[in-house]
Amino acid sequence: MNIFWVTSEAIPYAKTGGLADVSGILPKKLAERGHQVTVFMPYYRQFIESKNLPYTDRIDQLTVPFGDHNELASLRVLKLSDSLTFLFLEYDRFYDRPRLYDWDGKEYDDNAERFIFFCRAAMETIMLLNLNPDVLHANDWHAALACVYLKSDLYRERKPFWNCRSILTIHNIGYQGIFPKENMQWTGLGWDYFNYTCLEYHDCINFLHGGIMTADMVNAVSETYAQEILTPEFGFTLDPSLRHCAARGKLRGILNGIDTEEWNPAKDALLPANFTAKDLSGKAVCKQALQAHFNLPQRAEVPLFATISRLAYQKGLDIFASGLEYLLRNFDFQFILIGSGDFSLESHFKYLATKYPDKFAVHIGYAPNPVSHLTEAGADFFIMPSRYEPCGLNQMYSMRCGTLPIVRHTGGLADTVVNLDNNEESATGFVFYDLTPEALNNTIVWAASIRQDAPAVFKKMIKHAMTADFSWDRTAGNYERMYQDAHQ
Ligand code: ADP
Ligand code: GLC
Repeated sequence: MNIFWVTSEAIPYAKTGGLADVSGILPKKLAERGHQVTVFMPYYRQFIESKNLPYTDRIDQLTVPFGDHNELASLRVLKLSDSLTFLFLEYDRFYDRPRLYDWDGKEYDDNAERFIFFCRAAMETIMLLNLNPDVLHANDWHAALACVYLKSDLYRERKPFWNCRSILTIHNIGYQGIFPKENMQWTGLGWDYFNYTCLEYHDCINFLHGGIMTADMVNAVSETYAQEILTPEFGFTLDPSLRHCAARGKLRGILNGIDTEEWNPAKDALLPANFTAKDLSGKAVCKQALQAHFNLPQRAEVPLFATISRLAYQKGLDIFASGLEYLLRNFDFQFILIGSGDFSLESHFKYLATKYPDKFAVHIGYAPNPVSHLTEAGADFFIMPSRYEPCGLNQMYSMRCGTLPIVRHTGGLADTVVNLDNNEESATGFVFYDLTPEALNNTIVWAASIRQDAPAVFKKMIKHAMTADFSWDRTAGNYERMYQDAHQ
């Protein structure tokens, strides 16, 4: 199939979260499986320029209708193989920014314009290059308007779209792209598109809602999350739109995979030592290097817990923060936290790190790759107390590295971690249910006690975690089936 993949971020070019990880690897896997894949994303100059990428072409004449006039943009073409091409949309007014979506804790106030322009440019690129895609695959709210465009008078009957069906992947329903309705003026769509069956939601534009209502197929990034978002608790008010979509057989859950080459402790060149499930001696070397990097006492016997996360409400790290001092006071544990986001959480964590320098270390900000890899590989446990988690990638990265996850039972965490309570023979981690500091702390203490008092069980868990199959090969076929079904 000919797939046009629209995303606002992708590794190794620009990343704020797991969407970038998925967009960096799934298109590549689909290309390897015989499809023709084009990835369309913004040229974030301040992230991408310094990479000096070997562009194969530059197209200067991309005319993008915007409001009542046309704008001129460019495309940088990066051909990675015969079947995989990245197209970067260059338009500095919108994408030459120091961060992708926000600054100083505030969303850019022209985000509606930025991503309307992005989606319109995606459609115009398909026309200009005559790409004739079979699948227009939009990811999250930033790209969702492309699904609306595909069904609109503007594009529906244009030749490059004759055989095209749209897919919307919901990586996170907490972010919907909600903007004042005045922004309709930039879309080129008439006010008849501003209604509940399309872009309107509570008198605002809601891009994700528009995508859900118009895409030929919609999927969420795990099976459990696809069920959860049908309920008011997890649907962030879009559960009625999703139930409508599900009732017509258009909603699926497809678990993410991970890049098992990047996350392979047996070969990872970013680690000071490599290791396998059979020979874990290299993991001990990584632990020591991690403790050294974070200025923690280099002790092999102390349980070391890590977390790498956006400090967002979703991630439940406020729950971790509430109970952390109790653990620091009463237990011989070490903790490492890498993250940024909520300013009050950042300062609380910094305060605790200063107060307990031998037990708690933080990196506030975005850690470079070698530090993330060392953290995933060197820790004993990885903590994810998410309120909700569409899929979550870190628990899979950590399992690959024999670092047992401690997770809340929600979304993709529930689908990927086998709790020790349920089955000693296949357990890969520790799962808790109540979103309270007590439940999390009890689970942390329980995990440490298994390591200390039941080393054979602990070892078995590490082996299961390291050998579990989280590859895209296991799950990419589900995307192919969804693409085919969209054509039925
Ligand atoms: P989400 O996309 O909701 O943030 P995921 O678990 O899917 O959650 O993916 C998060 C990705 O971002 C992971 O690759 C994680 O390691 C990375 N990440 C998040 N915060 C940081 C940070 N401060 N430093 C380095 N990597 C981070
Ligand atoms: C989102 C979700 C995360 C998921 C990622 C990739 O950012 O919050 O759970 O793993 O997208 O799909």
